[in-house]
Amino acid sequence: MTDENATGLARGLTNYGDRDFSIYLRNSFAASMGYSREVLKKPIVGIANSFSGFNNCHRHFPEMVEHVKRGVLLGGGLPIEFPTISLGEVFLSPTSLKFRNLMAMDTEEMIRAQPMDAVVLMGGCDKTVPAQLMGAASADLPAVQLVAGPMMTSRYGEERLGACTDCRRYWGKYRAGEVSREEINDIEGRLATTAGTCAVMGTASTMACIAEVLGMSLPGTAAIPAVHSDRLRAAEASGMAAARMIRDPIRPSQVITPKSVENAIRVLLALGGSTNAVIHLTAVAGRLGIPVSLQRLNALSDETPVLVNLKPVGRNYMEDFFFAGGVGAVLRELKPLLHLDTVSVTGETLGDRLEKDPGHVDRRVIAAAAQPLEPQGGLIALFGNLAPRGAILKRSAADRSLFEKEGRAVVFASLEDLAERVDDPELDIEPDDIMVLQNAGPKSASGMPEAGYLPIPKKLSSKGVKDMIRISDARMSGTAFGTIVLHVAPEAAIGGTLALVRTGDRIRLSVREKRIELLVDDDELDERRSAWKSDLVPPEARRGYDRIYAAEVLQADEGCDFALLQPVADG
Ligand code: FES
Ligand code: MG
Repeated sequence: MTDENATGLARGLTNYGDRDFSIYLRNSFAASMGYSREVLKKPIVGIANSFSGFNNCHRHFPEMVEHVKRGVLLGGGLPIEFPTISLGEVFLSPTSLKFRNLMAMDTEEMIRAQPMDAVVLMGGCDKTVPAQLMGAASADLPAVQLVAGPMMTSRYGEERLGACTDCRRYWGKYRAGEVSREEINDIEGRLATTAGTCAVMGTASTMACIAEVLGMSLPGTAAIPAVHSDRLRAAEASGMAAARMIRDPIRPSQVITPKSVENAIRVLLALGGSTNAVIHLTAVAGRLGIPVSLQRLNALSDETPVLVNLKPVGRNYMEDFFFAGGVGAVLRELKPLLHLDTVSVTGETLGDRLEKDPGHVDRRVIAAAAQPLEPQGGLIALFGNLAPRGAILKRSAADRSLFEKEGRAVVFASLEDLAERVDDPELDIEPDDIMVLQNAGPKSASGMPEAGYLPIPKKLSSKGVKDMIRISDARMSGTAFGTIVLHVAPEAAIGGTLALVRTGDRIRLSVREKRIELLVDDDELDERRSAWKSDLVPPEARRGYDRIYAAEVLQADEGCDFALLQPVADG
């Protein structure tokens, strides 16, 4: 390439024999967008913008992206924005998780295919941040994650409202007849009122914190509210950091390491964070060949205190967490438990960051490690014949009186079956029973929706029953709560033990022993297993993305990533 034609656009160019001509072509097409020759000499920072009219959480991205661009320019780069698909949690069918891997592929391939030297990832809503981190980890180009930030809360009468723990709380009251149709309609318009992600420690907030702890986002940025001016400054700083990484590249593979992943698990536990984050972190780490073992999760959980008092587990909202000191304050409390030599996209180690930390904290929201909210972590994995590869329970969101319990199973064979029968006044069910939902795992037709939060049958909820043990291979919204066993692996649709449970069987849960057992003897289970038949539509009978999904999706303990997206073993 002649110096004359030097350009950031030359990156990754396919050479058909006359390289200079190819660059000339790119430059002339770029000129049609109004770029001068001078500008095209700059190295390029791509900006993966997941704005969409189907994503309320990213409503402010058109404003935010301008600040990212300014940061890139100040840092000496040329910012070029590009779209990727977006995943607006509540607008996707059958479930957003089904498309997380599609967004990860889109992100990875567009980072790789287009000429850029670094990238800023703009995401926020539940599945978007994991998708971007997965894609960026595989592409392994210097990348900075910039999140949308949480929504602000709103008001209804004297009550503070925030999506979407309060959505569930009020809907529960409505189902129980405590709130009128008129009131629930009124509340509908007040639950989510600003741009940004759900206002509690749901999946989006948990993943934002995890991205910061991994080192993929700038320190102190995870919890800044979407509409706060600090969010725009974080956007500018993220653009600048990405431009800086053109000169001093720090790749995702240097940032996401076994140590930073372990730090992320610690923080997840201390946050009482979303169960979904276990799946997402497993998938992100898996892209770099880093295993996340559920046994290790349990070991860390036993020695990591819950420190953050946020809904759905506690009382407060994300804006309170931000003003209380955010992720930095949590990291400070956990310091003796963390690996301090991990590196972030700033080039600094976690130890350096904590040295400089201003030390501000509001103890109403973030507890001291010496006086934690709970002495042990918010999430645990359960094992046993019902979940040989594990299941997840958010113990911090569960009812303690149900922790050691044996009960009669009441089985729903599918989501359809559940919808049809759960509110039937004739349903044979008692408060002490254990509700079981089958065929809602990753390979099932429903694609592992957030259906694990089975509604309490109307005949019981109207009598004041608020919680029951519920078991499934589905997921649960990070904003939900209850004694809910999720992510059972292997799932029912591929013949896991969960598929063999029948109404009337006894099930035993022990949180102390971290066990979940179906109390049916092995001979009987073997018999049921040989009689079991899959009713999945085989991949060959499907088409398009649905076919790739059916053939490739892995189980929950493997992060529900695609087998074909796993790293290729060296040699
Ligand atoms: Fe986007 Fe909750 S709907 S984070
Ligand atoms: Mg959610």
